Amino acid sequence: MSQSILQTLSVHLGTAFSAINLPAEYGRVTISDKSAPFQCNGAMAAAKLAKKSPRDIAALIVQRLAGNTDIALAEIAGPGFINLTPSDILLKSRIDDLAVDARVGAIKADVLEKIVVDFGGANVAKPMHVGHLRSAVIGEALKRLLRFRGHTVIGDVHLGDWGLQMGHLISELQEEQPDLIYFDAGVKNGYPEDSPVTMTDMSRLYPQASAKSKNDPERLKKSQIATAELQAGRPGYRALLEHFIRVSIEYLKKGYGELGVEYDLWKGEASVDPLIGGMIDAMKAQGITEESDGALIIPVDDNYDMEKRKGIPPVMLRARTGAVLYHTTDLATLLDRKNEINPDLILYVVDQRQATHFEQVFRAAVKAGWYKRTQLEHLGFGTVNGKDGKPFTTRAGGVLKLSDLTEMMRTAAAERLEKSGIGQDFGSVERADIANKVGMAALKFADLQNQRTTNYVFDVERFVSFEGKTGPYLLYAAVRIKSLLRKASKAGVEPGEIIPLHQAEQRLVLTLDGFNRALASAEAKRMPHILCDHVYTLAQAFSKFYADCPVLADDVPNDLKSSRLALAALTLRQLELGLNLLGIETPERM
Ligand code: ARG
Repeated sequence: MSQSILQTLSVHLGTAFSAINLPAEYGRVTISDKSAPFQCNGAMAAAKLAKKSPRDIAALIVQRLAGNTDIALAEIAGPGFINLTPSDILLKSRIDDLAVDARVGAIKADVLEKIVVDFGGANVAKPMHVGHLRSAVIGEALKRLLRFRGHTVIGDVHLGDWGLQMGHLISELQEEQPDLIYFDAGVKNGYPEDSPVTMTDMSRLYPQASAKSKNDPERLKKSQIATAELQAGRPGYRALLEHFIRVSIEYLKKGYGELGVEYDLWKGEASVDPLIGGMIDAMKAQGITEESDGALIIPVDDNYDMEKRKGIPPVMLRARTGAVLYHTTDLATLLDRKNEINPDLILYVVDQRQATHFEQVFRAAVKAGWYKRTQLEHLGFGTVNGKDGKPFTTRAGGVLKLSDLTEMMRTAAAERLEKSGIGQDFGSVERADIANKVGMAALKFADLQNQRTTNYVFDVERFVSFEGKTGPYLLYAAVRIKSLLRKASKAGVEPGEIIPLHQAEQRLVLTLDGFNRALASAEAKRMPHILCDHVYTLAQAFSKFYADCPVLADDVPNDLKSSRLALAALTLRQLELGLNLLGIETPERM
């Protein structure tokens, strides 16, 4: 793949700086939104070193660029900026390369790594909340992006299946059905294959137990004991746990599947239980643990001040009660990943509010010598709020069911499509498919386009709008190109050589040129919104092109028709590719 237009210009400018005995780095070119598409500010930076005024340096550079066939115009502006317009030759050679490239200009990362992405993190039995949804949507986009950049990526859902919620389930099931074989302490094996509970049962049992426990310490105690016995290995409870996990995974696979979210690993907290005993012994032997009030801890901050609550508190490896905690299962998971995968990097896509938790766990893992600190990253995200500014819940309040949410998006999309009169003459199956795609695109793009760390307001009406920076707007742009391609094919117009002459065509080429840059930057910053910005800019550049440059009109010469058609087809390829990396699918027509 050829280098981008920006890189080519940087090389030329770098050479010019070298030629006047200044470091080539000053030749770095950036995108500009001023009179020319690019600019170089190196003359200002070089002034001190060169002991010349920036404008004098800029004049020398511009002189050196004279006759360069890749540059149409190099102009000095203000105190010494150099504004740059690439030549038609450069645009043409770059677009020729993009047109035949299956990856539409996207190259692979320089250093390819093995990366675990820990995302989703739903809890067995406990209801999902909108934070889990964010994690799934952002994690899926990062997984796809990193994979496309050439890395080996392993997505792990890391189910929450080892806490008090399991004790709640077990003890509540026992209250409802005390005669089940799982509760007979005398039985050690030979449990039935079929689960005694369905997902519906579980979503009844957990809230029931949790509500009862709130006002009744005795009831809570039962759940705590059941949790402790489960963790200690009571066979009947282990057998129940397996049922609970299996039933949940089946349910979650469906829910995540509807969202286009896929996992390579369906591991969870419970799956690393066998490692915990040995891990704790080894950490003790290393001398990194301490006894504190009967609990076993790992201090991770020399300056931690418990009184003033300053610094990072120690990791809780084992509570006074003997129970293992969230810290413990996350550490054991790190050990498991080291043993089974040995990744270069682990990314945790989890609510920002868990930042301290991860800092603690990461420091302990570094202390244990398993990882370097740079191999572990918590990618936090902000909360999703309702219009009232409080964390978002569905209308029913409280519990958020993934299926309710996706259904709500589908319905809102269907209503919006109907209002806009889109697809009303299509069959009902196709209409439902379109509504689904529009709804999912609305949901995902609304989430991903925000800088990951910020909070945003959940506003279905705005999300499903066809105007503005929305998922539906982007789908509409893609579908518009598809329809153009169909019309062209009917009219017998074939895509041909692309000759970008019109200003709107050149803008579009320059936007297409930025794809790789957006991908690389989204990877480096772990920020999918950078890719969102790119696809949105691309759709806008296409709109402008489509408004200014007729493609199939009668008075357009044939080679121009073919050129514009090819440019449109290329735009569609990049747009669909970008959307796909965001986890967004486009319909064939709307
Ligand atoms: N289950 C956790 C929760 O609901 C999220 C898990 C995140 N991943 C992790 N390795 N801790 O908060």
